Amino acid sequence: MSDATDKNCECKTKIEQPEMVKIRAIRDEAQDIKTFTFEKKGFGSKPGQFFLIWVPGVDEKPYGVSSQDNDRFSATICKVGPFTEKMFEVKVGDMVGIRGPYGTSFELKGKNIALVAGGYGIAPLNFLADEAIKQGIDVHFITGAKTKGNVVMCDKESKACRTHYATDDGSLGAKGFTTDVLEGILKTEKIDCIYTVGPELMMKKVVELSDKFDVDCQLSLERYMKCGFGICGQCVVDDLGIRMCKEGPVIDKELAKKIKEFGKYHRTASGRKKEF
Ligand SMILES: Cc1cc2nc3c(=O)[nH]c(=O)nc-3n(C[C@H](O)[C@H](O)[C@H](O)COP(=O)(O)OP(=O)(O)OC[C@H]3O[C@@H](n4cnc5c(N)ncnc54)[C@H](O)[C@@H]3O)c2cc1C
Ligand code: FES
Repeated sequence: MSDATDKNCECKTKIEQPEMVKIRAIRDEAQDIKTFTFEKKGFGSKPGQFFLIWVPGVDEKPYGVSSQDNDRFSATICKVGPFTEKMFEVKVGDMVGIRGPYGTSFELKGKNIALVAGGYGIAPLNFLADEAIKQGIDVHFITGAKTKGNVVMCDKESKACRTHYATDDGSLGAKGFTTDVLEGILKTEKIDCIYTVGPELMMKKVVELSDKFDVDCQLSLERYMKCGFGICGQCVVDDLGIRMCKEGPVIDKELAKKIKEFGKYHRTASGRKKEF
């Protein structure tokens, strides 16, 4: 470990080297989505936090924690490009580097909550659902995708956790969007807080619904990340200038509404604006 700062700088950020850990298990979840379990004692992340995976000679990228135990933790990864293609070639027993956990986490509130996941957004919300159930909180877990084959199934259906699916083509659960399902629940039940992770336009709609029904809401706002711990400035958002790896990724809806680019655009690795 080395210190990223000099004596004149107030920032005391430590630059961490990746720690090599063994892949203990790999599970297929849906088309092009797998859960990787890493052997690591006491990782100590909280729901909503993220970590970086380093595949030597390839790259290093951020992922949410989808579950955690004393001696292991998992990430649920969607194959979308060069890094994740390499990650999908990794086998049980192989070693990869990890850094973290980093960033802010979800705060559980109330006795009856709704989780709204799109795509791999189910990953951090799965971890949050585990914690909520442990604390005796009732959970509505809404998850959705284009079609049945893209849906990561939620294995928590129980009295404490009611699961709801939505697909664009109606091949699993309701035909339509996760936000339609959420609106139906908000019309009939008192929900204390909504938690959402997924495509930004979906999260924007969730925030609008939470305003309409006057319910608290927390979300994970992902931006392109490089260092992951606040020194490179890559993940800063307009025009508050806050870093999504440090002051985020989990933020409450009031902060999200002050971020000018929320639901409008993000930035690529080179800093170029890209509209959603
Ligand atoms: C806090 C956080 C948590 C995340 N959690 C998950 C998760 O649980 N599961 C999952 O599948 N993905 C997650 N991602 C996204 C993941 O990091 C990227 O989608 C992935 O690394 C893409 O890499 P690639 O080379 O395969 O694809 P690329 O072709 O390089 O990228 C595809 C898209 O992914 C995004 N992306 C690429 N690199 C990064 C980066 N360094 N930081 C942020 N976004 C990037 C960009 O929008 C890009 O357009 C998370 C991102 C962040 C910021
Ligand atoms: S990724 Fe470097 S400051 Fe956020």
